[in-house]
Amino acid sequence: MSAPDFQTPAQSIQFLSNCIGKTVVLRGWVANKREGKGIVFIMLRDGTGYCQCVVSTESSNDKFLEVAQSVSLETSLVIKGVVRLDEKQMGGVEIQVRQIDIVGGSENYPIAKKEHGIEFLMDQRHLWLRSSRQWAIMRIRNTIIFSIHEYFQQAGFVQMDAPVFTSNACEGSSTLFETEFYGEQAFLSQSGQLYGEAMAMAMGKIYTFGPTFRAEKSKTRRHLSEFWMIEPEMAFCDIFQNMDCIESFLQFVVKKVLLHCKTELESIGRDTKILESSLGVFPRMTYDQAVRIIKGEENVGGVNSIESLQIELSTTTIKLQTIHEEIAMREKTLGQAGLKKGEIAFHQGKIAQLKQDKNETEEDLRNIPQWIDSAKNFQYGTDFGGSDETVLTRLFDRPVMVYDWPHEIKAFYLKRNPEDSRFSRGVDVLAPEGYGEIVGGGERETDEQLLSKKIHDHNLPMESFGWYLDLRRYGSVPHAGFGLGLERMVTWVCKLKHVRESIPFPRMYGRLTP
Ligand code: 4AD
Ligand code: MG
Repeated sequence: MSAPDFQTPAQSIQFLSNCIGKTVVLRGWVANKREGKGIVFIMLRDGTGYCQCVVSTESSNDKFLEVAQSVSLETSLVIKGVVRLDEKQMGGVEIQVRQIDIVGGSENYPIAKKEHGIEFLMDQRHLWLRSSRQWAIMRIRNTIIFSIHEYFQQAGFVQMDAPVFTSNACEGSSTLFETEFYGEQAFLSQSGQLYGEAMAMAMGKIYTFGPTFRAEKSKTRRHLSEFWMIEPEMAFCDIFQNMDCIESFLQFVVKKVLLHCKTELESIGRDTKILESSLGVFPRMTYDQAVRIIKGEENVGGVNSIESLQIELSTTTIKLQTIHEEIAMREKTLGQAGLKKGEIAFHQGKIAQLKQDKNETEEDLRNIPQWIDSAKNFQYGTDFGGSDETVLTRLFDRPVMVYDWPHEIKAFYLKRNPEDSRFSRGVDVLAPEGYGEIVGGGERETDEQLLSKKIHDHNLPMESFGWYLDLRRYGSVPHAGFGLGLERMVTWVCKLKHVRESIPFPRMYGRLTP
């Protein structure tokens, strides 16, 4: 075997279409392999993309064909070959291999092509990250992160980071992770906001971007125990300017993903219609109006929330019936004698797809009556649950902003509406397609007395908040900000079923390794 070539600069698969006819060196891993007589097709991945590499006796010698035949999933390789235009291939090119050398073998790679259960994949997360779907999600996550910085930097915000060890709660004491700090009780930060407020008074406009921690002792598809939050804070800013900022910020990020992640969105099968409509103006409504819409007392564009759910319930029932019939029909066909191998595989594939549709439709059928029920019986004055968010957001094709919440159910630091003190000036952004809250924010209370009373009423230790109250004592100004949960954003943009796939190594109830 020849020595792998580490000297020649490798070409990124991503940019191969600029190298038609040239000889290039690629370094990567075997994502897939097919063999014919005297020919091997290797799907090579290098982290920037995927490329079909063809090894045959025609293009290289027998020795290299043998090497190609011997490789298995995830073997690492150095390949030298000529780039050829081939529109049928991903990326529009393929490689005629001249030389192929193994860098590291890979026997019995645990993640085979067949379907694996989610717990197995989670246990193999360190390897699962190599699969094409996870690759695409992580690249979209990266684009989101980069565009977040781009947005705030071009708008004149200064990134300043908040501490992770803290002495006080920010978002309610029930989700605090307790730890010890040189013998003193300490907590992992739930949010950088309070520090963000101090930093905004020093710099005008800041944003933090760091890990935050919430002990959530339940398994849901929206909650992580460790997640990344982006928290801008702006001096001389009210709730309405804050909403303007949220809207233009989210639109900027979505636009960048649509622009730079076409291949990735396509490869995970993301229908981008809703992302495109999210570039339009976000509806804004008060809590009161949102409640009327949820309860079916106010329509949106002529559509009534409860009536539309009832219609969906009957169409879903019919849909399930149709799926059952098609499965039965195909199973009957499969029972017939004399089917060709290809036909059997075709029907089996269809049945597998139909069964997945069936599971999803059955889930909808379980959910819709619950949504109707909780919408009808929504108690004015309470916070929205997941189903209330779904009922509301189904009526829109883009994120909606709900502001002016009953002050009792929101955080202690939110400013009261000066015109109606029953409400505090918080805002939640709810994403469409059933994703619900992705942003929480609001204008901050500046009245020292009211704020102290809130801290007291929330049973928070006053001594930890002295510094925070100082911000109201020395040159206090109206200010506002918000927090975007990075993983919630990635989950929505990629339309993932569960937040666990939106972060490289999720930390959540029952999951600390790998
Ligand atoms: O609504 P939250 O609790 O608001 C705050 O923490 C404020 N201090 C933000 C601010 O005004 N500076 O959290 C903000 C966002 C949520 O909207 C959600 O996207 C995300 O953080 N989030 C979570 N993401 C994943 N797992 C969890 N357990 C989350 N809890 C909140
Ligand atoms: Mg919230």
